[in-house]
Amino acid sequence: MLYATLKLLHVLSIVVWVGGMVFAHFFLRPAAMQLPPPQRLPLMHGVLRRFFAAVVVAVLVVFITGGAMIGRAARESVQAGLSFNMPLDWSIMAVLGVAMMAVFGHIRFSLFRRLGRAVDAQDWAAGAAELARIRTWVGVNLATGVVIIVVTLLMA
Ligand code: HEM
Repeated sequence: MLYATLKLLHVLSIVVWVGGMVFAHFFLRPAAMQLPPPQRLPLMHGVLRRFFAAVVVAVLVVFITGGAMIGRAARESVQAGLSFNMPLDWSIMAVLGVAMMAVFGHIRFSLFRRLGRAVDAQDWAAGAAELARIRTWVGVNLATGVVIIVVTLLMA
């Protein structure tokens, strides 16, 4: 029951994180591109501020629940007198998942801050450049997230 609850929280957080990236990348941005920069950049900044606040929580939950599930599985193996060999799909998920978290940290705490400064200064050219960088890295994280989901569900 505890393991199932951890997995539920883990997957719900992934739904928020990966689903939000799909929405931003494929639906919000193309529509927002119709707006002139003085409207588009404050809009995107406001949307991303709210989304990234949710992603910070999702990242923490994914990390804690993922680690707790590995810890439980390892403890059960050891208690049964077996050595714990982490399944390959779990290892791939953990490594790529941590890489996604590092990329998110770069987006949130470097690029997004620069976007905020550009919006405050009404420097639309600089803001558009930061938004383009954010889009590239969100694309990287989205692709990595999809790879993790495919690997996890196909190798299970
Ligand atoms: C620190 C990073 C992560 C760790 C340590 C971790 C660890 C785990 C573990 C131990 C499970 C349980 C697997 C099972 O019971 O078969 C799991 C499930 C899952 N994880 Fe992760 N995970 C991480 C990040 C991610 C990320 C970034 C994604 C997707 C983008 C993801 C997607 C999933 C999915 C979809 C499941 C459910 C798989 C199933 O029920 O077959 N995980 N994770």
